[in-house]
Amino acid sequence: MRYKIAPLFCRPWTLNGISPRLIESHYENDYGNALSSLNAVTAELEALDPATTAAAVIHRLKRDEAALLNSTLLHELYFASLGGDGRTLPEPMAQAITRDFGSVKRWRDEFIALAHGLAGSSGWVLLTYVPRDARLINHTTAGHEQNLAGAIPILALDMYEHAYHLEFGANPAAYVAAFMRNIEWDTALERYQNAVKVEPPPRLIQKQFADLPSITVEEVKGMVETGKPVQIIDTRPRHYSTRAHEIMQGAVWRDPERVNEWIGELSKAEPVVTFCVYGFHIGCETAVTLRKAGFDARYLVGGHYAWKAIKGPLTLLEDTSSSEAGPVMRRIQPEEPSADPPLE
Ligand SMILES: [Fe+2]
Repeated sequence: MRYKIAPLFCRPWTLNGISPRLIESHYENDYGNALSSLNAVTAELEALDPATTAAAVIHRLKRDEAALLNSTLLHELYFASLGGDGRTLPEPMAQAITRDFGSVKRWRDEFIALAHGLAGSSGWVLLTYVPRDARLINHTTAGHEQNLAGAIPILALDMYEHAYHLEFGANPAAYVAAFMRNIEWDTALERYQNAVKVEPPPRLIQKQFADLPSITVEEVKGMVETGKPVQIIDTRPRHYSTRAHEIMQGAVWRDPERVNEWIGELSKAEPVVTFCVYGFHIGCETAVTLRKAGFDARYLVGGHYAWKAIKGPLTLLEDTSSSEAGPVMRRIQPEEPSADPPLE
């Protein structure tokens, strides 16, 4: 692989307060050097035999490759971010920024603050679209290789000293102000519109339960905290529960293999949430059974461990295995009276 130099994406003579000399030096020396070094490292990697080369050598070369590749990508984005009237945003761009930052002013204030925070050190300030969350976010990097995984930067401000020292000396604030005056928002909008076409990362789909209504742990936590009535049933398999020590606060454990024996405890007037260890089969199958019986039942996405991962409150799982109580093997005692499960 040989990387090719990209032409300048902005017209240096049109910039307001940023001279062609600065852009030429930046393009030729910093972007150009990064590209040359990237090609040299790539050639070295291609020439070595990974089966016989020391792991430390491969590690160093791959680390350099990632930093240099990102440097070329970010520099191209930086030059493409310049050349417009930074004050005027196309309406769709302004709407997207307002949606995710509250207002264009708030976005601008945060972006500039991030740039000022890098004054005296080095790094990038980026406006980036995150497909997983379908939103824009500002962030910085302390080097070339700290971009957000899976995200697409649409605006880049180079805060390495080489980007401004030639002209702005030790006054990075003046450089940041000049950058903001020269943002090319029309192409930023194009990049944003391309970015939103990127699908979020695919989730694990259980085809057999694709149509089964679900609920997230955040939603259930919100229901519990606001006192909304909900019947939460922990249906982790009996063999698993005998080893478990904790249970979601507000939930009761019921044996998923004996649904018919406890289904009568449930109320059809209130929603039911079922879950198992990770949110796969058993919680889903129980929800299916309950829905067939006429309950408003949903399975909890991610199950017990997703609840733990959001630091949802837990309580001790009481061992009542000596009880002759048939289907009800264990029953929790909520710590807060207000969190009484409605199944009692
Ligand atoms: Fe640079």
